[in-house]
Amino acid sequence: MAKVRRQFPRPRDLAPLLKFKAPDFNAKRRRLAKALTIYDLRAIAARRTPRAAFDYTEGAAEAEISLARARQAFEDIEFHPAILRDVSTVDLSSTVLGGQTALPFGIAPTGFTRMMHTEGEWAGAAAARKAGIPFSLSTMGTTSIEDVAATNPDGRNWFQLYMWKDRDRSMALVERAAAAGFDTLLVTVDVPVAGARLRDKRNGMSIPPSLTPATVINAIPRPEWWINFLTTEPLAFASLDRWSGTVAELLDSMFDPTVTFEDLKWIRSQWPGKVVVKGVQTVADAKRVVATGVDGLVLSNHGGRQLDRAPVMLCPTL
Ligand SMILES: Cc1cc2nc3c(=O)[nH]c(=O)nc-3n(C[C@H](O)[C@H](O)[C@H](O)COP(=O)(O)O)c2cc1C
Repeated sequence: MAKVRRQFPRPRDLAPLLKFKAPDFNAKRRRLAKALTIYDLRAIAARRTPRAAFDYTEGAAEAEISLARARQAFEDIEFHPAILRDVSTVDLSSTVLGGQTALPFGIAPTGFTRMMHTEGEWAGAAAARKAGIPFSLSTMGTTSIEDVAATNPDGRNWFQLYMWKDRDRSMALVERAAAAGFDTLLVTVDVPVAGARLRDKRNGMSIPPSLTPATVINAIPRPEWWINFLTTEPLAFASLDRWSGTVAELLDSMFDPTVTFEDLKWIRSQWPGKVVVKGVQTVADAKRVVATGVDGLVLSNHGGRQLDRAPVMLCPTL
């Protein structure tokens, strides 16, 4: 058997191994550099965000069965890589709804975004601009239509509409979005009433956040969120009036449960750009939506946040 020959380490062999990096004094950059997966980011968010805001973002409706099924379906996806192709240059760009996108996805609309992180929609719109993908602003967004347009001036912005009982006010927002150059209207149709988000109920989640003994204790190790909250614009909806109450009360006071396919046709006639219906969950409904003449559908159960046990939408062949 060959014997291992040993030697004294020589300085010229050691030198390349010694890689002392200059310390980074920016704590945020240090934290983010260590976050390699979405789960790492989740762990950072859980440490730094008050419980009610974190749970509002992460949670879903009722027993969160649809959410768990969606996660499982995502885990179960299998790739079948094709081999021996020249992949030295890869182009993921494509055309969606008459416009370019650098990647085959965009940023979905989220309400209360500045409650999750103080930079909220500004960060989302700036990231979309950098990545060359569309950004969607929710009716329940916390940054104005015009501010989003200014943050992503040369990229694609989409406006997500919730039709309220007060139709004139809903359509005034739609007009503002068209005037600001938003090219697509996402009409969300899966919120006739607020979803039963049990985490929010348990946490007493309200807008603005209320200070109870439990929220104060939870706030102590999360000072940065509170400093941001107290020293930036109040967390009102940039598109709506101020609100004070629970999220479910807000949604129920605003959303119109009488909206029908006829209304969808009318909304279509009011918008100059592309119209996409978000929240289609059955084949029969998909056919009816297509017959109204809209430009696209988003098969979605709202991340399981509306009707628990709603079907998980997954493309069967990738
Ligand atoms: C915190 C949070 C807030 C959301 N707010 C909205 C909203 O205001 N409007 C909307 O249409 N969808 C909203 N959604 C749903 C998302 O746009 C998206 O549909 C969901 O994350 C799941 O993706 P899927 O549509 O592919 O199932 C929200 C989702 C999350 C996680």
